[in-house]
Amino acid sequence: MTSIISVKNLKKTYQQRTVVDNLSFDVEEGSLFSFLGPNGAGKSTTINIICTVLKSSSGEVFIDGLDVRKHSQDIRKKIGVVYQHNVLDNLLTVSENLRFRASLYGIIGNEFENRLEEVANQLDFKNYLNQPFHTLSGGQKRRVEIARAIFHEPKILLLDEPTTGLDPESRKTVWEIIGTLKNNFGMTIFLTTHYLEEARNSDLITVINQGRIVATGTAITLQKKYSCDRLFLYPYKETMEQLITSVKNVPLSYKISDDHLIIEDPSIGNVREILKYDSLIDSFEYFKGNLDDAFINILKQTGDSV
Ligand SMILES: Nc1ncnc2c1ncn2[C@@H]1O[C@H](COP(=O)(O)OP(=O)(O)OP(=O)(O)O)[C@@H](O)[C@H]1O
Ligand SMILES: [Mg+2]
Repeated sequence: MTSIISVKNLKKTYQQRTVVDNLSFDVEEGSLFSFLGPNGAGKSTTINIICTVLKSSSGEVFIDGLDVRKHSQDIRKKIGVVYQHNVLDNLLTVSENLRFRASLYGIIGNEFENRLEEVANQLDFKNYLNQPFHTLSGGQKRRVEIARAIFHEPKILLLDEPTTGLDPESRKTVWEIIGTLKNNFGMTIFLTTHYLEEARNSDLITVINQGRIVATGTAITLQKKYSCDRLFLYPYKETMEQLITSVKNVPLSYKISDDHLIIEDPSIGNVREILKYDSLIDSFEYFKGNLDDAFINILKQTGDSV
């Protein structure tokens, strides 16, 4: 596999405040790479440097072997960007917006019409081609913003929070589109999100906090390392003390929280043993550790919370 985005010791400083701090990572060609972080972590700043609209303070970024500081024009042909905020003209129709955008890449006349049909079919927005952009719903707007970004058939698609503000169904649609672009068209996808659970299918996830990388791995490795299953035990009022004493017989870690006990990462054997004390337990809940937990724990361990 070859690295199509290579970031080395990247730094961005505003008035002596470092907002991107010595970032280094690589994105493999044809992969889905998710860049996660809380508000203000430095995600958009990094994306803006990668897509050549912002200059770094120091460090290097190579896109398909080209240095962003020297080859911005060539790089712009290779990348498509969906910015955090919609950038299309509200008063123009969808097709007028895309016609203008395509003309910047010399895609005009029949070539434009053919590509428009192709993209409108692919992203399923044929029905609102003649609607002014401002009349579209949030999900429809995001779809057309993606169309704008891929119109010139870039090798790399960068998406800055493509699903923020969308309802669950529109989120799902956007994720399906992203999956198709990667799997059927071999596009490299670089995206930012706040939701680790959404990034589950990524080939690699990198979490940043306060401008620094704090965790990297696949969804499975991050989940294993930073999240755990939990068993909540709710005793009767009068059996709390007795339950605590009983649980101490089982070799595991537990916490006492108000009116209940939290058992962390119990094995099936542990659960079976604990539930033998059923006469002391009014009710219980079992929570499977998920990626959103993992994200919260990563941020806690790195000195910040969401
Ligand atoms: N032009 C600027 N001047 C000064 N500070 C800036 C500028 N642009 C960004 N910052 C600061 O850099 C930090 C990182 O901002 P950035 O937009 O990259 O965060 P983000 O991870 O994209 O956050 P969000 O999830 O809210 O979009 C923030 O503290 C922000 O205030
Ligand atoms: Mg941002």
